[in-house]
Amino acid sequence: MNNVRIVSTGSSVPELIITNDMLSKLVDTSDEWITTRTGIKNRRVSVDKDTSDLATEAAVSCIKKASVKAEEIELIIVATVTPDMFTPSTACIVQNKIGAFKASAFDINAACSGFIYGVDVAKSLLGCGRFRNALVIGAECLSKITNWEDRSTCVLFGDASGAVYMEVSDKPGIMKISTGAEGDKGNSLLSGALKPNNPFNRNNTSPYKDHFVKMNGQEVYRFATRVISESIKDIFEEFNLTEKDIKLIIPHQANLRIIEFASKKLNISIDKFYINLQDYGNTSSASIPLALNEAFEKGMISEGDKVIAVGFGGGLTYGSLLIQF
Ligand code: UT7
Repeated sequence: MNNVRIVSTGSSVPELIITNDMLSKLVDTSDEWITTRTGIKNRRVSVDKDTSDLATEAAVSCIKKASVKAEEIELIIVATVTPDMFTPSTACIVQNKIGAFKASAFDINAACSGFIYGVDVAKSLLGCGRFRNALVIGAECLSKITNWEDRSTCVLFGDASGAVYMEVSDKPGIMKISTGAEGDKGNSLLSGALKPNNPFNRNNTSPYKDHFVKMNGQEVYRFATRVISESIKDIFEEFNLTEKDIKLIIPHQANLRIIEFASKKLNISIDKFYINLQDYGNTSSASIPLALNEAFEKGMISEGDKVIAVGFGGGLTYGSLLIQF
C-alpha cells in the first residue's frame, strides 16, 4: 500500500455570527446556560450560501496552498448531512464549481465522524493506487435542519466547511485510521429529511417526523465521552506514545465538557486539545478540518508533528486518525 499524506488544509465560515445573547431572544435560554453546559459562545449561520458554496470556498483555499491545479485533482469526497440536494451530490457541484473535470466525485454521510470516514475512504483509494490525490471536504449548513424554536438543540449547531488535499507520498503521513458505528443507538440523534409518505403505508410508525435535528443529549453524551476516550487511548497504546509525542489532539467540537472529560480520564493536559467550539459551535463533519486548518494557520503544527483527530456523532458513528505531518 502507498503512504498517503495530508498536504494542505482550507476552511470557510459564513460571515453572520449568532451570539448566545441573540439566541436568548429567540428561545428560553441564556449565555450562562449555554456557556456552562457546552462552552459555546458563538456560531456562524449562512444566510445566502449553500453547503456546496462553503465546500467550494474551503476547497479553493486548500488547493491553492498545495499549488495544485483543479484539473489535476482525481477524487473529491464531500462528507455532509446537509447536502444542497440528493442529486447531484455536493461533491459533483464542487467539482463543477472549481473546474476539477477529471475528478471522480461523491458524498458520504457519517454525520460528525464524516470527515474521518472520508479520509479513510480516500486513503484506501490512494493507498491501493486507484488515484494519486484527493480532496476531502467536510461541509455543513446545519442551520437548515435546526429547529430554531427548540432550545435543547438550536444553541448547539453552526455552519462551516473544512478541506484537506491528500497525495500519495514517501512520508508516513496518515499512520492510522479507525472507524466504527453503533447503529443500535441511531435513534438518539435524528434528522429525517425524507418523510415516509408512501401512500400504500397506512400504518406508518417511523420515528422520523421532519427534517429537524432531534437529539437525546444525555445518551449521545455518554456515547461521546466513551468513544473519544477509547479512541485516543487505543492510538497511544498501539504506537506506544506519550503525551509529549503528540503535538495536538483535534476532537470533534461538540461540547467542551466532553473534551474536558477525555482530558481528565486519560490524564492528558487540556492544552493538548485544540478547541474552537466557543467560536463555531458544533459544525458536524466540518468541525475537525476547520479546527485542523485553524491550527495550521496559527502555526501550531509543523513538519514532522504528530496529530490525533477524533470524531463522534450521528449514526451513531466514531472515528480517529493519527497523522504525521
Ligand atoms: O455532534 C454530535 C455529538 N453530539 C454530542 O456529543 C452532544 C452530547 N450531549 C451534550 O453535549 C449535552 O447533553 C447537551 C449540551 C446537549 C445538553 O446538556 P445536558 O447537561 O445533558 O442538559 P440536559 O439535556 O440534561 O438538560 C438539563 C436542563 C433541562 O431542564 P430540566 O428538565 O432539568 O428542568 C433542559 O430542559 O436544561 C434544560 N435546557 C436548557 N435550559 C436553558 C436544555 N437546553 C437548554 C437551553 N437553555 N438551551
